[in-house]
Amino acid sequence: MMARIKIIGNPELRLQGKVRISGAKNAVLPAIAAALLTKDKIKLKNVPLVKDVFTILTLMKEMGAEYSIRKNSLSLQIKNILFEEASYELVRAMRASILVLGPLLARRGKAIVALPGGCAIGSRPIDLHIHGLEKMGAKISLEHGYIQAEAGRLVGAEIEFEKKTVGGTENLLMAASLAKGESILKNCSLEPEVINLCELLVKMGAKIDGIGEELIRVKGVNELGGAIHEIIPDRIEAGTYLVASALTQGQITLTRTQPFHLTAIIEKLRFSGAEIEQVNSHTLRVTGSRKIKPQDITTSPYPGFPTDMQAQFTVLMSQAEGTSIITETIFDRRFSHINELLRLGANIDVSGDKAVVKGKTPLSGAQILATDLRASASLILAGLIARGETIINESQHLERGYEGIEMKLRSLGAYIEVLKD
Ligand code: EPZ
Repeated sequence: MMARIKIIGNPELRLQGKVRISGAKNAVLPAIAAALLTKDKIKLKNVPLVKDVFTILTLMKEMGAEYSIRKNSLSLQIKNILFEEASYELVRAMRASILVLGPLLARRGKAIVALPGGCAIGSRPIDLHIHGLEKMGAKISLEHGYIQAEAGRLVGAEIEFEKKTVGGTENLLMAASLAKGESILKNCSLEPEVINLCELLVKMGAKIDGIGEELIRVKGVNELGGAIHEIIPDRIEAGTYLVASALTQGQITLTRTQPFHLTAIIEKLRFSGAEIEQVNSHTLRVTGSRKIKPQDITTSPYPGFPTDMQAQFTVLMSQAEGTSIITETIFDRRFSHINELLRLGANIDVSGDKAVVKGKTPLSGAQILATDLRASASLILAGLIARGETIINESQHLERGYEGIEMKLRSLGAYIEVLKD
């Protein structure tokens, strides 16, 4: 469904107040897929009730899951896998559906998953997931746009990722947990979401050594069981509100966050002039400064600066006093927000993987188009400080990953409204 968001912006806006950070979308999706590895119940706490979570739950239900949600807790159980297919409709709606491939193969010896096509932020192949599963003994072919995978029991293998892949690491960790024998995974992603998944797998009975490191050893077990597990706070949601405060010279307190996961983002924000204070282990207070300092940013895998914060930082740098160069190294087409920011009056030149942002440019409200989740978040930030009315078309992307964003921003003093057509 198409959605539109209206914002009445104002360069004088000062966002102020408290915002509670939700659970991480990118941690809950693999945790839900992990439920396929056991017939027992998995209980997840701090689950963000965002669209992507409901999309993967629809998929789980088709496969035979029963689930219930109470507040932000999810109980999920798949006693028997009745259907091992992820349809094109679901994979197209959410590429992370690919995370069912490893668990399905490991528990059922069979999986049929639509091959994700291109996407708004780049080509995003899944070859590394497939090569890894093949090394574990799976026979994989592509027919009619679907990955057809079959295996007897998977066998442990030594797999080195050619490049860091969050989803690939997660898929293979899940597969290796139920494989026969030991797997050695090299060049694993270090993202907190990967660690959060490992912690769940260990609670389920998996034998994993080297959690949080590039080399992980997994001793496969015959069976995994139920677990209760808490999803980590969403570091990208937190980062988005940190930027919102820096951008509006505001003062926002983030609660239920994990400052340790935000190191690269906090470092950049401090350099740009914002004051960030850690109030206690889960609370941060950020105060924006009147002058924003320009700076160069290069996205890279964790613990580097996250690609999922690139669009939001681009907006911040459009208000910095000078020129910044933003380099996107993870995805090949993740600059779609820039054409829209130009419509608001930003001065940005894109060439290859670099965006040269010249600040400071006043922004004025306009009709703009959202293309993906983080692009949408950046357009909202821009709309807040643009003079007058901004309408963000196709804003449904936002619902995929930001729990209650309109409500949260309104409580901080923004004028933002979802238009019902
Ligand atoms: C995860 O995507 C996140 N999604 C993305 O979040 C995030 O942008 C990305 O990691 C990078 O941090 C989820 O966790 C659900 P990758 P993922 O595999 O796992 C290439 C958001 O807005 N690659 O780490 O799909 C790939 O093309 C999103 O919340 C291969 O070449 O990302 C990319 O260039 C969007 N072959 C790089 O690796 C493969 O088999 C990193 O991708 C797999 C990946």
